Amino acid sequence: MHSLHQRRLLLGVGGGIAAYKSAELVRELTRQGAEVRVVMTAAATEFITPLTLQALSGHPVRQALFDAQAEAGMDHITLARWAELVLIAPATADLMARLALGLADDLLTTLCLATEAPIALAPAMNRQMWAAPATRDNATLLTTRGLHLLGPADGEQACGESGLGRMLEPQEIARRATTLLSSGPLAGVRVVVTAGPTREAIDPVRFISNRSSGRMGYAVAQAAAEAGANVLLVSGPVALPAPAGVERIMVESAEQMYTEVMAHPCDLFIATAAVADYRPQITAATKLKKTAAEMSLPLTRNPDILAAVAALPQPPFTVGFAAETDQLEQYARGKLEAKRLNMIAANWVGERAAGAGFESDENALELFWPGGSLTLPRAAKLPLARHLVKVISEHFHQLRPSP
Ligand code: C5P
Repeated sequence: MHSLHQRRLLLGVGGGIAAYKSAELVRELTRQGAEVRVVMTAAATEFITPLTLQALSGHPVRQALFDAQAEAGMDHITLARWAELVLIAPATADLMARLALGLADDLLTTLCLATEAPIALAPAMNRQMWAAPATRDNATLLTTRGLHLLGPADGEQACGESGLGRMLEPQEIARRATTLLSSGPLAGVRVVVTAGPTREAIDPVRFISNRSSGRMGYAVAQAAAEAGANVLLVSGPVALPAPAGVERIMVESAEQMYTEVMAHPCDLFIATAAVADYRPQITAATKLKKTAAEMSLPLTRNPDILAAVAALPQPPFTVGFAAETDQLEQYARGKLEAKRLNMIAANWVGERAAGAGFESDENALELFWPGGSLTLPRAAKLPLARHLVKVISEHFHQLRPSP
């Protein structure tokens, strides 16, 4: 089930050039199962037609406060009560100023006063306008009142300048909206999941890798997103689509995976990736030729990503995986201690796995933590991942009680 399944989102569109991205945003929200009603300001209709957003949302787009016909259907108060989240994207400097003042001079600002739903703004404006003291003050005032600011991002702007003020990409806005709407056990928790194999290049066409399909990790990422977490999936090469509501960064090698993981701080780190332990000491620049009867390939150790995360000065809650062919508990507990993890999920591979594990749709897990253990019986990877995430979140909250 998608994370926004049947959630009711009121999308307010302000009058800025980024309004063209609202079409993509409506598509993304509806793709994730949300019901979207769109309200446009008068200025927004200068940038994108109501018809476009009507076609994508499947509902008439509202513009005017005094529209007798529209008010005869869902009037503005009903619409304000209907919304579970009011999302304004783009939010212009003018719209932010009007909201800060509490004006109700058009339908969108009126709805913002009339709703009890959380309100999120995705600002989009020229960098100078974003930096202007009036906008700074308005942004501070709005956040103090409990409105959520999503972005803006840094980068190239439509005006030709570059700086802070770009609207976040629609996928990112949808992801943040999902988090805001979430009431699951991991609501608002930043989770990083590694998944899949890594590829260690020998030359431009050959590499060392392993049989990991990435399915367990992708299921864990999906289950964490369903539990309300803000999930980043750092994935090695696999043939799987990113789960709904999950941000994904694709990497090839262990070193690239290490760099991405270290660049993204989190509260909970789940390492499901089958990271190659070694990489060729030298990657040949051109394809190696088969001249000699024998060849040997000197290897060098890859960084242990999980151990490095667990050794950070303020480490997140860390969960490792251990695939073993024998002495499962002994090896798993050894890794739990050696890498200083909070939990390890171990599974059989090879003959003992009896069809579960790598490249399979099913798996079974033995969980170990300091002073305890639990068996998660064999199941399809997604239900198993949901079970795992439930157990992880209980331990996570025990260790870090919410304020
Ligand atoms: O030591 P071993 O490779 O068996 O440990 C497995 C666990 O450590 C998994 O959670 C795996 O994702 C993680 N790992 C890692 N970086 C490595 C090797 C393993 O994050 N270089």
